[in-house]
Amino acid sequence: MNVPGVRYDETFDCWVVTDPELVRRALRDPALSAQTLEAATVAFLPPEVRAECAPLLDALRRWFVTLDGEPHRERRQAVAHLFATRRIRELDDVLTGIADAAVGRCAAAGGGDVVPAIADVVAARGIAALLDLDGVAHERLNDWARAVSAFLATSYRADRARAAQAALDEMAASVLDVPGAMPTVAPGDPAERLATASMLLFGGMETTSGLVGFALWYLVSNGLSDRVAADPSGAEADAVVERALELFAPVGHVARLALRPVPLGDAEIPAGALVMVALHGEDVLAAPGMPTRCPAHGPARRDHLAFGGGPHFCIGAPLARAIATSTVTAFARALPDVAVQELRWRDNPTFRGPATLVLR
Ligand code: HEM
Repeated sequence: MNVPGVRYDETFDCWVVTDPELVRRALRDPALSAQTLEAATVAFLPPEVRAECAPLLDALRRWFVTLDGEPHRERRQAVAHLFATRRIRELDDVLTGIADAAVGRCAAAGGGDVVPAIADVVAARGIAALLDLDGVAHERLNDWARAVSAFLATSYRADRARAAQAALDEMAASVLDVPGAMPTVAPGDPAERLATASMLLFGGMETTSGLVGFALWYLVSNGLSDRVAADPSGAEADAVVERALELFAPVGHVARLALRPVPLGDAEIPAGALVMVALHGEDVLAAPGMPTRCPAHGPARRDHLAFGGGPHFCIGAPLARAIATSTVTAFARALPDVAVQELRWRDNPTFRGPATLVLR
């Protein structure tokens, strides 16, 4: 499809950036603010729902992914040690154990729907291990994250705002008193702790589950299990995960708000405009939908935009990669001969991935 690098969309009154070079520039431009919550989410909610869901909106306003400049930098810095390379490497054995257990249960059942049986489990358990939330059942972590991502993808829906508020209330009751979990800029402030907890749980779970689902589909469809299983270096599993990220960015786009006129490509984006920045190389508002046939295996590129770019580059990328690689490896070893029996995509155009993937 030949799509323009940057265009204005009259129907949605927003700008769409598709060209990867312009996307990289847009994500680094301080004139394109990440503070889009009011324009992209709150503005669409009826006033009575805004009042009812005030604690949810307060938490979202504190998420550092929606902040700019020093407030963003300070809050990101406060949790950066959780994601340090050494810490993720130390988690390797734990992540391998989580993946082996989930895949082992699925293998014992002769395969099945790997989204609830494997992808959701490894994403939730991997993030729980990082955040010291091992005591919380993975189904609850998945439900909370799903409720928040459904709301963010369709923020005009009052029912989804209420469901996200209920998820946040449950999360507050379950995680705020866990000792050691969730460092923030203000450790004594429950509102800051809840904001950080909800952002990390939400930011990591649907996305990592989506990546694992994509990667397993790609592995099985391309018959790559034998070579992944036979490679003790892990390079083949890395290549599958990287290719999945390149082909199917689990986050389809991110939003920005122009603080002043921004020249981008042939266009000048006016001050106050909402900008949809595509991470999958397709027009965000005219996307052709998810593929029915899996693309053929090919060399993996690492210069994709699946984790964004600039100051908001995904802080969880090393963890997501480690979870996905350990799961692909475990799956290739335990279930080398399965085929795809059913595939259904999520109906969420922003947080993408399989809703059902039956492998037997
Ligand atoms: C395949 C899995 C993942 C994908 C595709 C993904 C994607 C992204 C993207 C595109 C951004 C940039 C947002 C923006 O520019 O507005 C981002 C930021 C972020 N991600 Fe991820 N993510 C993944 C996994 C994770 C995990 C596992 C965690 C944590 C447990 C996480 C936590 C975050 C946080 C906190 C930010 C905000 C960073 C900042 O604003 O400085 N992500 N992610």
